[in-house]
Amino acid sequence: MLNNKTILVTGGTGSFGQTFVNLTLDRYTPKKIIIYSRDEMKQFEMSKTFTDSRIRFFIGDVRDKSRLKRACDGVDYIVHAAALKIVPIAEYNPFEYVKTNICGATNIIDVAIDRGVKKVVALSTDKACNPINLYGATKLCSDKLFIGGNAYSGEHHTRFAVVRYGNVIGSRGSVIPFFKEQMKKGVIPITDERMTRFWISLQSGVELVYKALLKADGGEIFVPKIPSMRVIDLANAIAPEVPKKIIGIRPGEKLHEMMISEDDARFTYDFYDHYRISSPLAGSSPSFITSIEEKYAEENGQAVPSNFCYSSDNNSKWLSIEDMKTLLGNLKI
Ligand SMILES: NC(=O)c1ccc[n+]([C@@H]2O[C@H](COP(=O)([O-])OP(=O)(O)OC[C@H]3O[C@@H](n4cnc5c(N)ncnc54)[C@H](OP(=O)(O)O)[C@@H]3O)[C@@H](O)[C@H]2O)c1
Repeated sequence: MLNNKTILVTGGTGSFGQTFVNLTLDRYTPKKIIIYSRDEMKQFEMSKTFTDSRIRFFIGDVRDKSRLKRACDGVDYIVHAAALKIVPIAEYNPFEYVKTNICGATNIIDVAIDRGVKKVVALSTDKACNPINLYGATKLCSDKLFIGGNAYSGEHHTRFAVVRYGNVIGSRGSVIPFFKEQMKKGVIPITDERMTRFWISLQSGVELVYKALLKADGGEIFVPKIPSMRVIDLANAIAPEVPKKIIGIRPGEKLHEMMISEDDARFTYDFYDHYRISSPLAGSSPSFITSIEEKYAEENGQAVPSNFCYSSDNNSKWLSIEDMKTLLGNLKI
C-alpha cells in the first residue's frame, strides 16, 4: 500500500510521528516520507537517528497554507498528526488551539484536494467524543471538517478519514512519565479512585492508521478495540509502595473517556478488531444503509445495537495491575 509512495506526516517529530516513520520504513518501501513540523531543534535531533535517505525534513506550520502547498508537491498520502493537545493549556490559550487544530485541518483539506493527494488520515482522540474541554472540542471540529472534506473533494477524488483513540501509553506528556516524576517526590496524586482510561500503544496507533489508509472509502472514523484500565491501578503498577493522594477531578477532565457515543451507534459497525463509524453525511436512507451493510458484511462488519456506546468504563477488556506491569516493562520511558 505504501510501497513507492510519498507520505507527508504532519507532526512527524512527535511521539506518533516517529513511531510511524520507524514502522513504515520497516514494513514498506516508501519513495519518500516528509516530516512536516515547526521546531527546527526537534527535526535536528530526529535527523541524527533517522538517517534513512528517504526521509525529508520540512519546517512548516499547518497554519501556513502556502508552505503546506509547497510541501505537498507529489504527495500520495497525508497522515495528519500535528496538534496542540494539552487539556489545561488549551483552556487558557483557546485561540491558539483553534488556529492549529481547526484552521490547520482546513488548510490540510484544501491543499490535499488541490495537490491531488489520494488519501488523508487525521488523528483524533477520545476527548473529541462528547467533548467537555476546548482541546476535545477543537478535535471534534477537526473530525467534522475531515469528514466533510470528502464532499469538498468533488472531481479530485481525495478521500479523508479519521482514526480516534485515547491515552497513548509512552507518548510525550502521557501519565506514565508524570507518575514516575511524582514518585520521586514521595506521593502520587490521583484525581479520583474511580477514574478509568483506555490504553493503547504507539505501535497500535500506527497500525490503526495503516488500516484506515487501506480500508477507508472516505468519511469514516476508525476506532480500535483496546483495553481499559483504572488509573489508580496504573499508579500501583508503577509504584506500589508510594502513597497515593486523592486530589479531585480537574476542570475539563472526565471520570471516564468515551470513543463512540450512543448517538453514533446507528452509524457504527463492529469489525473483528475495531469499530467503524460511517459518515452520517453519506446518507441514512434505508437503501443506503442496506448497501453499506452489504459492503461491510464482506469484511464481517456488523451493525452495533442501537443503544451501543463505547467508553472506558463499559469496556469488556480490562488490564490488571499485573498486565500493566508486564506492558510497562516493555516500554522505554
Ligand atoms: N498522545 C496521546 O495520548 C494521544 C491520544 C489520542 C490522540 N492523540 C493525537 O495524536 C496526534 C499526535 O500526538 P503525539 O502524541 O504524537 O503528539 P506530540 O508528541 O506532542 O507531537 C505533536 C507534533 O505536532 C507538531 N506540531 C504542533 N503544532 C504544529 C503546527 N502548528 N504545525 C506543524 N506541526 C505542529 C509538533 O512539532 P513542532 O512543535 O515542532 O511543530 C510535533 O511534531 C495528535 O493529533 C493528538 O491529538 C494523541
